Amino acid sequence: MAEVTFDYQNLMEVEGGLQSGELDEIQQRLREAADELLGDPPGFMRLPKTAEYAEASARVAEEIRTSGAADFIHVGIGGSALGPMALHKALSHPYYNALSGETRRGPRLHFAENTDPATLSAILDVADPDGTWVNVVTKSGSTAETMANFLVIRGVLVDSLGDFGFQGRTIATTDPEEGFLKQIADREDLEVLPIPPDVGGRFSVLTPVGLLPAAVTGLDVAALLAGAAQCVDEVNEQGAEHPAAVGAAMHYLMDTARGRNVRVMMTYADALERLAAWFVQLWAESLGKDGKGSTPHGAVGTTDQHSQVQLYMQGPQDKVIEIVEVENHPRDLPIPGVYGDLEGVGYLGGHTMAELLNVECDATRRALTEAGRPNSTITLGELNEENLGYLFQALEVQTAIAGVLYGVNAFDQPGVEAGKQITYKRMGRPGY
Ligand code: PA5
Repeated sequence: MAEVTFDYQNLMEVEGGLQSGELDEIQQRLREAADELLGDPPGFMRLPKTAEYAEASARVAEEIRTSGAADFIHVGIGGSALGPMALHKALSHPYYNALSGETRRGPRLHFAENTDPATLSAILDVADPDGTWVNVVTKSGSTAETMANFLVIRGVLVDSLGDFGFQGRTIATTDPEEGFLKQIADREDLEVLPIPPDVGGRFSVLTPVGLLPAAVTGLDVAALLAGAAQCVDEVNEQGAEHPAAVGAAMHYLMDTARGRNVRVMMTYADALERLAAWFVQLWAESLGKDGKGSTPHGAVGTTDQHSQVQLYMQGPQDKVIEIVEVENHPRDLPIPGVYGDLEGVGYLGGHTMAELLNVECDATRRALTEAGRPNSTITLGELNEENLGYLFQALEVQTAIAGVLYGVNAFDQPGVEAGKQITYKRMGRPGY
């Protein structure tokens, strides 16, 4: 069973927080929003119970691992990269690529996301083409950044392995029916993993977009899906009472009724830093429309206590802080008891690093609450696949319901088109 809890008490019982009457007033709309989601569930709701994507990903991952692959380059951007990055950072060793081949659970993993040539050159510096596999991930099949990264990597692989070798080491994760990448895959006989047409990029972490890199690096894909499935079952049972739905109403009200239009996700584990980045995209791209939406922002505790917490405590009253904490950290270290005569140092001895992290998390929560700064907390019992799966699904549900409350389409992103058109024109794409 996944162990993920949501605590909204400090959004209610804090100066500047919500009144229970406000929540009562929105109950009817929240019920309707939850009914809308459950009555005609968007594609992402069926993913946790769809075995075919996990099976296909496991089959390809096995092929890659048994080929003796040394490097696996995941090429993608936005929703085609942030979910897999969040999973990898949360559940793999922080220096995964630096571990020996025997210690790692699969090939080294590289993400080619931006078009910064320094990053791609660096990946190509370390990835030996003879042992490299590439996974090109784009639902539309024509995202300029992804295709440019792919074309450069393709050139290197063809030079080293020849056309046939390149084809045997390249996977196209894309719409199964259409798009230019699908055309290339058909033409060059590449392995194709599907991104279901009814699942948008930022909701696609539980499709092969996230499942293949997870399986390649030895994560437990079945547990990931089981956690997400538990969330779906609970949302089906509880509807508007489910904490993900309640959170949608709370954050919507904080923005629209309280003017708190910045939502900070502050994760008290370095491993969750990319989870916040994934959530920032999910919330921003889904809800930022028609002049509506609150601005998501990622922060890491304790690090950002020494950077941003001053602003959160005493700056403008425009924020809601959402703490994500981990009860039992995967590793811990005792702090040695030395310098007992120095009262500003010696007191740390006998405690542990995880204890200090969690005490600082609680201290920040209390300080925010006492200062009249509304905050909420998501607690993960442990950092594991099941809990991550539950959390991904819950935050997607919350975002979809918030979309109904805001009255925007959470599943499109028309605002990014204008820049794309100008880029196409400047880069000479025919027809632009
Ligand atoms: O969430 C989204 O739909 C976007 O962020 C896309 O994932 C991103 O633009 C990349 O698109 P594609 O997968 O088509 O390359």
